[in-house]
Amino acid sequence: MYKSPANTLFVGKNVVFVPECHSTNTLAAQLSQNSTVSEGTVVITRHQTAGRGQRGNTWHVQPGVNLTLSVMLTPGFLLIKDQFFLNIITSLAVRETLVELLSTPDISIKWPNDILVHEKKICGILIENQLAGSSIQTSIVGIGLNVNQENFELPNATSMLLQTNRQFELQAVFDLLMGKIEVHYMKLRQQKYSAEKHDYLKALYRRGEHHRFEAAGESFSGEIVGIDDAGRLAVSTGSEIEYFEVKQIRYL
Ligand code: BTN
Repeated sequence: MYKSPANTLFVGKNVVFVPECHSTNTLAAQLSQNSTVSEGTVVITRHQTAGRGQRGNTWHVQPGVNLTLSVMLTPGFLLIKDQFFLNIITSLAVRETLVELLSTPDISIKWPNDILVHEKKICGILIENQLAGSSIQTSIVGIGLNVNQENFELPNATSMLLQTNRQFELQAVFDLLMGKIEVHYMKLRQQKYSAEKHDYLKALYRRGEHHRFEAAGESFSGEIVGIDDAGRLAVSTGSEIEYFEVKQIRYL
């Protein structure tokens, strides 16, 4: 069970807790279709049996020890062309939560929105938007944050416990995260786009460094120089800047 945080106006005020579900994103989408739910409602579970990730991947974590949730937003003010800003504000909110709780600034955002601590993935984000005309009707912001998990099958995964050698109270992490999401979402409402993008770029993993990538079956060397307005990754290959969508490029 989770209580609604005391530090927010609407994000997390209505908490829908289910002990188990396939995917909180799927459940949130069903809720938004079948009923009127207030903005900021959070669907949260202790066990996801068919958690979904980016690029059609699955999201599988140990039950009961992590945060597995979806925040339901209705950003009618946001144009479809600006929808990547939802990824930006969510990444910044998670990053700030972790900077505060882990007391390390070495937390980066791997485009489009993986959160890494010392180069290991601690949080995955899956944002699914339902569009209506030229605006966004509902945005389901799915967050899987590894809190107290001790062992992972994947070598490049980590948790808050592994980073600090201590347990965290899930409710306290939830409260802080909801507060940060609300703060950044309000900035979006106030159209503080360039400040948010600036902070996102500052935290962007491997920006300004030369690395190898793979696209269209070929590997090449390039330097991440930023993102465009649509959220595509901008990579300089020396002679030109190329822009990539999520499924078009892989970090090597
Ligand atoms: C990724 O890194 O590929 C994104 C993972 C997103 C996982 C979260 S857990 C809560 C929400 N419900 C889902 O089915 N997925 C997201």
